[in-house]
Amino acid sequence: MNIQPSATEADLVHRIWTELQRATVDRHHEWRSPVLATTGLDGLPQARTVVLRSADASTSQLVFFTDSRSPKAAELLAQPAATFVFWSKRLSWQLRVRAQAQVHRTGPLVESAWGRVSQSPAAGDYLASGVPGSALSSTTGVNTGEHHLALVIAQIDSIDWLELAREGHRRARLTGNTVVWLVP
Ligand SMILES: Cc1cc2nc3c(=O)[nH]c(=O)nc-3n(C[C@H](O)[C@H](O)[C@H](O)COP(=O)(O)O)c2cc1C
Repeated sequence: MNIQPSATEADLVHRIWTELQRATVDRHHEWRSPVLATTGLDGLPQARTVVLRSADASTSQLVFFTDSRSPKAAELLAQPAATFVFWSKRLSWQLRVRAQAQVHRTGPLVESAWGRVSQSPAAGDYLASGVPGSALSSTTGVNTGEHHLALVIAQIDSIDWLELAREGHRRARLTGNTVVWLVP
């Protein structure tokens, strides 16, 4: 049964997006570093931590940065389906976010992000000649002068929200603003 947003459901959707947005600006927010799961080029599961850079409720999009030469970028180009897992002990909330991810290597969004990243200590990571995941060599750290920053924009399909509570766990699937309550 689909439950259209009532006050409670609309509040849940609002609270989830509020926390996701907070995580992009609060370094200590537990949702700042979700696990991103993808399908490896060998067809097997892959997962790793990323930093959430943007969360936009109006477009249902999440954004993180990566090196355009990284294995995860190649995996997402081959198979855009991805899942983010967020856990917050403070909230006692887990989110499993299913999304379609697009890797942007050029364009105004990338250049604007590079404008900020280039001023940060992380800039060197995106300028180094060494390809992420390749064997270390004497030229690994050499600055190529060209940056390899990519923006990954993930369009959310659905969110599986789980709340752990002594008085009883709660679980719901959110598709846009539509909330379906599930057996935890
Ligand atoms: C706390 C934390 C945050 C990270 N954030 C990012 C990130 O935003 N983007 C990224 O590409 N890698 C990030 N990494 C590194 C990845 O987890 C991973 O080790 C690396 O990118 C290689 O992944 P891949 O081989 O699947 O491409 C982060 C690692 C940690 C521990």
